[in-house]
Amino acid sequence: MAQPRIRPVGEPRPDDRFRTCIAGLDERMGGGIPKGFLTLLAGPVGSMKSSVAYSIALHAARGGARSLYLSLEQETEGLLAQMRSLGFDATGVRSMHVVDLASVRKDIADDRADWLDALCVLLERYRTERGCDLLVLDSLDALYSLVTIRNPRRELFAFFQRLRGLGATVLLISEMAMDDRSFGKYGVEEFLSDGIVHLRLKEVEAAQVTSVRKYVGIVKMRRTRHDSDYHPFLVTPGGFELVLE
Ligand SMILES: Nc1ncnc2c1ncn2[C@@H]1O[C@H](COP(=O)(O)OP(=O)(O)O)[C@@H](O)[C@H]1O
Ligand SMILES: [Mg+2]
Repeated sequence: MAQPRIRPVGEPRPDDRFRTCIAGLDERMGGGIPKGFLTLLAGPVGSMKSSVAYSIALHAARGGARSLYLSLEQETEGLLAQMRSLGFDATGVRSMHVVDLASVRKDIADDRADWLDALCVLLERYRTERGCDLLVLDSLDALYSLVTIRNPRRELFAFFQRLRGLGATVLLISEMAMDDRSFGKYGVEEFLSDGIVHLRLKEVEAAQVTSVRKYVGIVKMRRTRHDSDYHPFLVTPGGFELVLE
């Protein structure tokens, strides 16, 4: 009979984590992402960052958590349609909120001297008005294009602190170029976060065809004994699944 796994002291229990909903991955990282963590979800365009983050938020909302998906890249309607095509339908899930840039702009004037501060105030207001257990920010790069950052180390430290102050679990989407070694634009995001989930695309040659496979790896996850391999994953109806070879 399999021995029960001994959980190191201080390692959050599966109940205290949000599942990534990638079948096979949660079991390799103690049950998911610890609640209250600030985690980077990094990868190149098309590596399914938005889809994975959305499915985590939707699954959490179905389980009773209040999820807020802040999309600074896509309009809400387009995002919802894309997610429905993947089988992630938020219809009727009352605690799943999606907010896009147009809606944020209604509350924050573009000429605000400190847009980042105004965004934090807005997030704090959302949390007070409708609650926020899980926040997705899609993406850090879209945010950077809206603000002026002069001293990344100081300003991002302060921004991450404000996000932590929300008391939510935060997923920060970070766009990487294919050959990037750094998980965030300014090279400090990876130190400031508690976890890094890395989505990768890899070209695989087979006969006359070059196909692009999607991979996922846990680079960092504090207070968690996790697998350090990159596994290919597939999109399944309404979810994702690791390919374990
Ligand atoms: N219905 C679908 N079934 C399977 N894969 C899909 C479907 N729709 C989109 N995709 C894949 O998802 C990718 C886009 O996912 P997305 O989460 O937007 O990526 P990212 O946010 O990393 O740019 C597309 O490039 C495509 O490969
Ligand atoms: Mg995206």
